[in-house]
Amino acid sequence: MADASGRTLGTEELEAVARVLRSGMLSSVWGTEVRALEREMADRHGVSHAVAASSGTAALHLAVAAVAPDPGDEIITSPISDFGTVAPILAQNAVPVFADVDPLTGNLDPEAVAAAIGPRTRAILAVHLFGAAVDLREVADAAGVPLIEDCAQAWLARYPDGRLVGTAGAVGCFSLQQWKHITCGDGGLAITDDAVLARRMRLFADKGWPRDGARRHVSLGLNYRMTELAGAVARAQLGKLPRVLADRRRTARRLAVALADLPGVHLPSDVDAHAWWLFPIVLDPPLTNHEVAGKLAAAGVPARAGYLDLPLHCAPALTEAPVYGSSRFPLTVPPADRLPVYGPGAFPVTERMLARTLLVIDWNERYTDDHVDEIARAVRTAVTG
Ligand SMILES: Cc1ncc(COP(=O)(O)O)c(C=O)c1O
Repeated sequence: MADASGRTLGTEELEAVARVLRSGMLSSVWGTEVRALEREMADRHGVSHAVAASSGTAALHLAVAAVAPDPGDEIITSPISDFGTVAPILAQNAVPVFADVDPLTGNLDPEAVAAAIGPRTRAILAVHLFGAAVDLREVADAAGVPLIEDCAQAWLARYPDGRLVGTAGAVGCFSLQQWKHITCGDGGLAITDDAVLARRMRLFADKGWPRDGARRHVSLGLNYRMTELAGAVARAQLGKLPRVLADRRRTARRLAVALADLPGVHLPSDVDAHAWWLFPIVLDPPLTNHEVAGKLAAAGVPARAGYLDLPLHCAPALTEAPVYGSSRFPLTVPPADRLPVYGPGAFPVTERMLARTLLVIDWNERYTDDHVDEIARAVRTAVTG
């Protein structure tokens, strides 16, 4: 049956690692690989700047730090995402504010985002879930706040107008973690056309050190630098990205066609714009995701119900755990009438999707037509049988 764990690592990456080791320079402060990766990433997206980081979470932290929320400011984001989306908000002492999602895509509902905007909203952090673009440009513009795009799952995904995700807002953030479209184990990239944001992000990734001759630190920063080894692997992977997307889209189209007439299932409609990190399916009642996922897993299909066991607004890290020491700061900053809404019942569409309607099938560039046909047969049997 289909194995979703395959990667595209090969001789190019081996040569890249050997090249770095032979050079004797493993740090990007003095090496050439990470700087070249940044240039290649910026060029591929048609933007002026890219800043590499040690993970996707770190890239998002650079972006959040660069838009400079004051302690207690709010950043609106999705309750269906990796925790790496919200951790940087908390780490900058800002308050994650969630909004509910569209019941067919799991992406933030623009109207719900607009309704969540308040006097302390400092940014909107859009998550292009599973590889489908969510368009929050108008909402962010109307609110006059920067849009940060979390493209960790959405390499080379496009908006309906053809624009690449990551290039529409103030900053676009990408992940190179092991199971993303391309990988260097762990790594991240943040892209922007804004020279001020780019400089802030570069400083934040390197201890606030401008590296301009003097040893001085001009702003708070951490060490989020990518190593030359990771950068060289990421460069080889970036070269393979168009092929990875073409292969994922070709097989996703095959599954979408095979399941098009199946009653009770909703599939993404934007096959050629979607990045197909996962293949999401939304079920109509009386079908339930746990039941269908169980049948698929028994048939050897790498499918799961719900994607997350708990939506982010129900994560104990937000509902009950201390954030710093024994304190829940910054979650205690907002006044009583604007305390963040966390816990069960807060976002019913999200909760229903994860508990009952959303099913995800692991997707991979190595799937063959036979794999897809097998998955299609198993889904049809699980849904109709
Ligand atoms: C949507 C999303 N945001 C953020 C992250 C965090 O990326 P990383 O695991 O590289 O830190 C991930 C991936 O894990 C993700 O899927």
